[in-house]
Amino acid sequence: MALCTAKLIISSLLFTSTILFTANSHTFSRSLLPEELGLKKEKLSHLHFYFHDIVSGRNPTAVRVAEAKMTNTSTTAFGAVVMIDDPLTEGPELSSKIVGRAQGLYAFASLSEIGLLMVQNYFFTEGKCNGSTLSVLGRNAVFSGVREMPIVGGSRLFRFARGYAQAKTHSLDLQTGDAVVEYNVYVFHY
Ligand SMILES: *[C@@H]1O[C@H](CO)[C@@H](O)[C@H](O)[C@H]1NC(C)=O
Ligand SMILES: *[C@@H]1O[C@H](CO)[C@@H](O)[C@H](O)[C@H]1NC(C)=O
Repeated sequence: MALCTAKLIISSLLFTSTILFTANSHTFSRSLLPEELGLKKEKLSHLHFYFHDIVSGRNPTAVRVAEAKMTNTSTTAFGAVVMIDDPLTEGPELSSKIVGRAQGLYAFASLSEIGLLMVQNYFFTEGKCNGSTLSVLGRNAVFSGVREMPIVGGSRLFRFARGYAQAKTHSLDLQTGDAVVEYNVYVFHY
């Protein structure tokens, strides 16, 4: 970081005739102590919720937005991309308390099995978590037992988050494709 600052000063010496001694507010990069950002002790949190992927009926929460020419003939739906705004609930019933939504997409990314690329934000709306998000980026082989996906970041309550999500199918309606998935998420954050 100090290196970035040094480079900036050198380039300003080379390219400007007037040397300005810039105030901190114009400094591109600097190091600071965690306390300056109000960061205290790192915490570990466990979140538990059910994810409802509703693909059928009049009000689906998961819709296919793109596919490849070969997707129809692929046994693994390779190439399909689905955009979701799936409700997250406290219990397995859709009627139980909503704690957030999973917004983003999943794409069929495996030629040899149903293997999804998951790129989603969990947007929480309940209690202390209200308004905070966690971002997941991982691989989800939906017909395996427990799938694990990295949590790569977060916002507000979950700033600097890192951790993992474990997903386990609670129920799957083979006729409609609707699924309820149980999630256990473990994250370090401040
Ligand atoms: C793939 O299937 C969908 C619906 O089943 C159909 O609308 C579409 O035309 C098909 N595409 C190709 C390339 O066959
Ligand atoms: C969550 O925050 C929003 C916006 O600040 C607020 O309108 C809503 O009532 C809050 N919900 C809960 C359950 O606290």
